[in-house]
Amino acid sequence: MTEVAQTPSIGKDDEEPGNPGGELRRRQNGREPDLAPHYLHRPAADQQVRLSVIVPTRDEAENIPALLSRLGPALAPLHAEIIVVDDSEDDTPAVLARHAADAPVAVRLLHRPPSARTGGLSGAVVLGARHARGEWILVMDADLQHPPESAGMLAGIALRHDVDVVVGTRYAGEGSNEGLGGAAREATSSWATRLAKSLFPRRLNTITDPMSGLFAFRRTAVDLDRVNPIGFKVLLELLIRHPGARVAEVAYEMAPRHAGHSKASVREGLTFLRHLWRLRSQRLVGQMREGPAATRDRLRELGRMIAFGLVGLSGLVVNTAALWFFYEPANLHHLLGAALATQLSTAWNFVLVDALIYRRNRQGALAGRAGRFFLLNNLLLLLRLPMLQALVWAGVGILTANALTLVALFLVRFLVNDRVIYAWGSTGRRDPVRMLVNLEAPEAAATPSRKRYQYLKYRYDVAGVVTIGSQIMLPELEFFRAQWIADSDVDIAVRVSDVGGRGPRRRAAMTEYANQSVLRYEEHLGRLGANFRIQLGSPIDIQVGPLLARSPHVVYTNIIEALLRFVLVSRGHMLLHSACVSLNGVGVMLSALTDTGKTATVLRLLRDHGGLFLSDDMTLISPDGVATCFPKPLTISAHTLRAVQAQDLTPAEWRRLQFQSRLHSKGGRSLALTLSRFNLPIMGINAITQRLVPPPKYSVDRLVPCRIGTTTQVEELFIIERGTPRISDLGQAETLERMIQNTDDAYGFPPFRYLAPAITIGEQGYGQLRQREREILTGFLSQVRSRVVASDRFGWADEIPRLLREERGEPATTQTAVLPAWPRWSGALAPSGARA
Ligand code: GDD
Ligand code: MN
Repeated sequence: MTEVAQTPSIGKDDEEPGNPGGELRRRQNGREPDLAPHYLHRPAADQQVRLSVIVPTRDEAENIPALLSRLGPALAPLHAEIIVVDDSEDDTPAVLARHAADAPVAVRLLHRPPSARTGGLSGAVVLGARHARGEWILVMDADLQHPPESAGMLAGIALRHDVDVVVGTRYAGEGSNEGLGGAAREATSSWATRLAKSLFPRRLNTITDPMSGLFAFRRTAVDLDRVNPIGFKVLLELLIRHPGARVAEVAYEMAPRHAGHSKASVREGLTFLRHLWRLRSQRLVGQMREGPAATRDRLRELGRMIAFGLVGLSGLVVNTAALWFFYEPANLHHLLGAALATQLSTAWNFVLVDALIYRRNRQGALAGRAGRFFLLNNLLLLLRLPMLQALVWAGVGILTANALTLVALFLVRFLVNDRVIYAWGSTGRRDPVRMLVNLEAPEAAATPSRKRYQYLKYRYDVAGVVTIGSQIMLPELEFFRAQWIADSDVDIAVRVSDVGGRGPRRRAAMTEYANQSVLRYEEHLGRLGANFRIQLGSPIDIQVGPLLARSPHVVYTNIIEALLRFVLVSRGHMLLHSACVSLNGVGVMLSALTDTGKTATVLRLLRDHGGLFLSDDMTLISPDGVATCFPKPLTISAHTLRAVQAQDLTPAEWRRLQFQSRLHSKGGRSLALTLSRFNLPIMGINAITQRLVPPPKYSVDRLVPCRIGTTTQVEELFIIERGTPRISDLGQAETLERMIQNTDDAYGFPPFRYLAPAITIGEQGYGQLRQREREILTGFLSQVRSRVVASDRFGWADEIPRLLREERGEPATTQTAVLPAWPRWSGALAPSGARA
């Protein structure tokens, strides 16, 4: 092995996929030589690297053997490479070269000579990241404080989840920082964290460990040119510079250092403070510049400025009166008097500003806002006092001089309030829901309540493919009611239970217990809120809190359907967002963006052209082009109903409909989506809203007389659009993308986004299931002709039958696939691959 145990050469590398050399040169401003990692070891199967693990090292020779031998197996299944960025004076590079050959993944080394060690640890990490080949980059220490096994699991989670940054946390869930070694270090670390969080209350609000040295990020989500960290805190810089990055945390237990000693020092501590100061001041400048762009918003800001001015005027009165009091009767020095008066007027102003002007922009705790408000006014006081003194010397009366200084700084005070303290922070807002993955720790099991029974009262058999048992009635699945299914045979069980902690919490959280396949969603209101828990397995066990149990629509749409979708995929079917009817024996599928007029078209096709109904919202499809019915009740608007002149609704139902359709329209949904960007108990709000005003849902045959078909061979797919009338063919690839996008949109409402990536069914993870779903759809579409039909007069229901008649001639009178006799899904109807 001696031939590799030489000091590795610096510079040349065989290839540079991650980084065009020009960019590197530009970044380094000619200060540093071109540095690139070279391969110490490159296994044969190294083509497709998904993950680059960056390990910064400084004098870690004793840790390298153990690091490599533990990291290797942890990374083996992940298509990874290791990039060591070394600033050592000891023989770390040589030891690394000696051990690299045994690693199952590629090992690259970038040794920085003393002249090129800019940025210390952080500089090393950023430089390494520039050379990364993987789509994900994991950063970890070399001293085994970040257990390689945890690091590997964290990377696995990152690769699977739909987020941009995954932070290894010591401060949440079962994480711990005991490995830091020493109470003093632990205390410093947790205080440093608090300091950083209080300086960036919004940007770091969902993150418990922004100082972590163990983290991963998606390469495309981070602009390396925008980060220029100094010292140890790369992650902090990354989070602050990328406010829109979606973050999840993984709780891990920090281990003690394996060998050698920590490079943390008082000097690093000072560098950290300097780093914080730089981040904060740059951000402040950025915030002050981030004025509103649209005229309307500028007018609003002007309005707030006037209001702020009025409050300020009243504060000026308070301030002047107080100053008079301290100066005249109390006989204090005028500067001291001014300082005291400022505290009083600041309190006065804060109460008014916080309660009146920025009532809707309030974020975080009252104490935090008050603290920042006082801090600002006292900093400005430091500016004002010399001004005041100068004016007094110039012969201006003390009260007048004081008022002048207050007025002079009005604009600064307003802008800092408007753009910093109460900023809407519209640019890149982080998801308000905390995502936490617990690697090893077991869930603190809630004791099953004896008040509640376990029996599943309602059973459903979804087209013979998936069975569901539920304690709450699921109106969406009413068509599939199948009470003959045995309790023990269900694939998905839904029970009412107390989920989550008793007390209220600051924000909603999705917690995943990786080793138990448990997912728990909790909202602000504690057990009273819309909490749920999912245990993946067979059966999939869903527990919903009592509030959710009263809103079956919410439970169905946001939880059950999402799971049902992937169970169906694992059994070879897809729930495609589309409507389906059978017209004279021809399977016709319709797809459209929300609120185009799909439902009205479906109803008119049924009423005017004698179609069979299969589905309106989701259709169950299989790769052979067959669609199976999925007849959920239709969500209708008053508009739709008028279009088909539904007869059967009572006057009370009509009256209610006006109201219901407004709330449950596209506008209502987008309002809910907007709300979900804020730290609100969105599922709870949703559940209560739907409880008070249920969505207007009616079974299809109550709206128009029709029959329901069970399966049909789909031959035509029409994507209906509003616009200048036209009909044009759509290629398969484009149709595929559109349909996937459309289906994703249907699942856009949280918490799907937070829970989906954790879904594993059978052996298949979320990514694989998505891939499988794509294949099913590809197969399906290969059997179908796809066209876009645009109309400006809602004329699709006339246009489509006309087209079919022209192309296929007059219909034969035979109709296919009408409902079979009871029980529905037996024998030939049950698609292959259904329950064993
Ligand atoms: N290339 C390079 N250059 N690597 C360095 C340098 C440097 O100047 N300084 C330290 N390292 C490497 C070390 O060799 C080790 O692999 C890793 O960075 C962490 O250094 P430690 O000296 O072990 O630091 P620590 O354990 O005190 O700090 C860790 O925990 C902090 C949180 O409390 C680090 O992970 C920090 O990033 C983290 O903030
Ligand atoms: Mn360490």
